Amino acid sequence: MADKLFIFDTTLRDGEQVPGCQLNTIEKIEIARALEHLGVDVIEAGFPVSSPGDFNSVVEISKAVTWSTVCALTRAVEKDIEVAADALKFAKRKRIHTGIGTSSYHIQHKFNSTQDKILERAIAAVKYAKRYVEDIEFYCEDAGRTDNVYLARVVEAVIKAGATVVNIPDTTGYCLPSEYGEKIKFLMENVKGIHTAILSTHCHNDLGMATANAVYGVMNGARQAEVTINGIGERAGNTSLEEVVMTLKSHKELNIETNINTKELYPISRMVSRLMNMPVQANKAIVGRNAFAHSSGIHQDGVLKNRESYEIIDPKEVGVDDNIIALTARSGRAALKHRLSALGVELTAEKLDDVYENFLKLADRKKDIRDEDILLLTGKDKALPQRITLAYLQVTSGVGVRPVASVCLDIAGEKFEAAASGNGPVDAAINAVKHIIRREMTIQEFLIQAMNKGSDDVGKVHIQIEHNGATYYGFSANTDIIAASVEAYIDAINKFIK
Ligand code: KIV
Ligand code: ZN
Repeated sequence: MADKLFIFDTTLRDGEQVPGCQLNTIEKIEIARALEHLGVDVIEAGFPVSSPGDFNSVVEISKAVTWSTVCALTRAVEKDIEVAADALKFAKRKRIHTGIGTSSYHIQHKFNSTQDKILERAIAAVKYAKRYVEDIEFYCEDAGRTDNVYLARVVEAVIKAGATVVNIPDTTGYCLPSEYGEKIKFLMENVKGIHTAILSTHCHNDLGMATANAVYGVMNGARQAEVTINGIGERAGNTSLEEVVMTLKSHKELNIETNINTKELYPISRMVSRLMNMPVQANKAIVGRNAFAHSSGIHQDGVLKNRESYEIIDPKEVGVDDNIIALTARSGRAALKHRLSALGVELTAEKLDDVYENFLKLADRKKDIRDEDILLLTGKDKALPQRITLAYLQVTSGVGVRPVASVCLDIAGEKFEAAASGNGPVDAAINAVKHIIRREMTIQEFLIQAMNKGSDDVGKVHIQIEHNGATYYGFSANTDIIAASVEAYIDAINKFIK
């Protein structure tokens, strides 16, 4: 039988430490419920002593979650432990996560202390936490840079004091995978009583090795992995939940399973990205926009013949609808034919050759080949849905006034006007467009980027909206970023308005 790896999600604690990504309690509850639905074993809900907001979030998440264990972080300080126990009072399953720095950097420079004194504080913290809660996890902060012999002493002592899980964080993301794996192996082989507790990985991504380190830790005996959705976290982030889970699922020979319902990975990734205002990089493994997009001709041809030629994961397994054949100058005839037939256009071999030649010329000039472009090449563009265009846009905004926008849209040759206010000029303009379009749609992602540098720069806007359960992308570039935002929004709407 396969071994179980417990998944400990710290999106709401370590992940939320990213500047600009703070969530309110309602948003945290929404994510906690989604994490439970995903099948996460432990949800680290916050650091209750750090602020009244964090305390309140742990209380409310404890009420909202039924099956997963809710965990609260503390330092090895009595007051922290008391506050955490209080915040967890409504949790059906609860855990206190206490700990202290164990590397010489922490012992000498942070605490001006000694190894023996730190060991005493560690034991005392576990015993104190045990008065309130049965399930106690202890973290040896900066374990990645802690001498293994001393680390083994600490792990043995805290297990003896009652710790059920011991966390071995590579706090600075310094370790090599082999080094981290050996650390876990050393502890498994040299700590008395190790089999009465679980070792946990907690790897940061400063050198881009968080997932590799966590997997090496698991291969060497760790049975809990601490992770975040999309790998978010301070600096270069934490270990990404989806990467660890899909690595184990893809490598059956490791014989380790998790409780995660992988079909929920993509939806929860979008949810976290939206609520934290943190776009997922396009090439992010498993959940990035391009994770299943094939653009070179050889790959496209291979995938169309048999997806396993270039795909190790079926996109549907992680909740992505299908792979994407991105049309570029490197695409082959097979990819073009495939896209055209998805658009309902079947061509003779001769006509396809013609269209393909023109397609290559166009793709050399234009990076982003859209369905409209290839339909134009085939002469089938008349079948396109009526396009909506921005006829004019006027925005008034400034300091101390509420922004107001007037918008006129041209829909199939007819003009429609509306005005609206909003939190900012973009919000006002989008609200005005919504007054005209009147469809249920939600913005899931909104990204403004400067193309070069300087105040005269062109702003690129990528937008992702949800309508009737489907996702539509829009794009525009303009020196006026408010206009670019509205155009991108209209571009996305054009994908579903017939
Ligand atoms: O990275 C780290 O060491 C931590 C601990 C507080 C668990 O986040
Ligand atoms: Zn951390």
